[in-house]
Amino acid sequence: MTKHMSPVTQDGTFRSEILNGLTMDRKVISSKWLYDDVGSHLFEAITELDAYYPTRTELSILERYVKQCSRLPGARGALVELGSGSSRKTNLLLDAFPDLSVYMPIDISANHLKDASERVRRAYPSLAVIPVAADFTQPLGKLPLLPELPVLVFFPGSTIGNFEKSEAAELLKNVRIAMPEATMIVGVDRPKDEEILIEAYDDPVGVTAAFNQNLLQRINRELGATFDLASFAHRAIWNAEESRIEMHLESLSAQSVSVGGQEISFRKGETIHTENSHKYSEDAFTGIANQGGWRVLDQDCDGHGWFSVYTLQAL
Ligand SMILES: C[S@@+](CC[C@H](N)C(=O)[O-])C[C@H]1O[C@@H](n2cnc3c(N)ncnc32)[C@H](O)[C@@H]1O
Repeated sequence: MTKHMSPVTQDGTFRSEILNGLTMDRKVISSKWLYDDVGSHLFEAITELDAYYPTRTELSILERYVKQCSRLPGARGALVELGSGSSRKTNLLLDAFPDLSVYMPIDISANHLKDASERVRRAYPSLAVIPVAADFTQPLGKLPLLPELPVLVFFPGSTIGNFEKSEAAELLKNVRIAMPEATMIVGVDRPKDEEILIEAYDDPVGVTAAFNQNLLQRINRELGATFDLASFAHRAIWNAEESRIEMHLESLSAQSVSVGGQEISFRKGETIHTENSHKYSEDAFTGIANQGGWRVLDQDCDGHGWFSVYTLQAL
């Protein structure tokens, strides 16, 4: 059974966060809301695209890297995964660390989490699988109690890049407070040529555009809003100063949209900022990890220097 830890998936939180973001001077919506059932499936489709290098690059590092990690204390206990999505990368850890006895995937996308957990259960029948549908940016203190086991936290997909530096450090700090003895494996995307980055977040097939626009469809579906999808275009922008790709939805005309009973007006060219994807150098990420109370024990990277996998332990 899936455990629900906090009320994030209830309509009230979604409505108030969406309205709050759309009434700000610079309209912004947290990227966590991109992941409903449709959004999670579209994200899986993105990971299959040639243009989207992060998934295959991280997988190639992990395939080699986990073989060196079998002596980590957490490799013999409980695996807790943050933003587990399809749990596709998890198999690599479960195969490399056969002594893991508990798997606790945590994800905001409840149905997708349930399906992925079922697949893991079928593939590893002796593993206790405890899915938790939750927003991991909320205090993690309410996690269903883990038995007295060493913990390995897995945080792949460069999801940490969705956060501003201070938020990322805060998130790592919350993880350390909830699981102070844990070892943590984190996947982090690195800075690279702007062209490669833009193509990864604005692919020629248009899957990333559909992923971004699904947010408007979700707001229409769940809040009875009146967004006309054809009037908003997907934009991916490289913000060099912040070392991040930003995803936006740009209003193609001056228009007014009804959202949850409120009229929201848009100027032509005005955008809703829907995602950040920070690209962190080794120094930048080490600084964030230290700020969150972790030290970098080890790191590995692909041949192009595009993506890094770090192992962290509490300072
Ligand atoms: C970039 S995807 C990565 C998915 C998968 N881990 C991978 O490596 O391919 C981010 C995942 O984190 C989940 N997610 C995003 N924000 C979240 C939040 N605040 N709390 C819980 N899950 C979140 C999404 O539902 C999605 O599955």
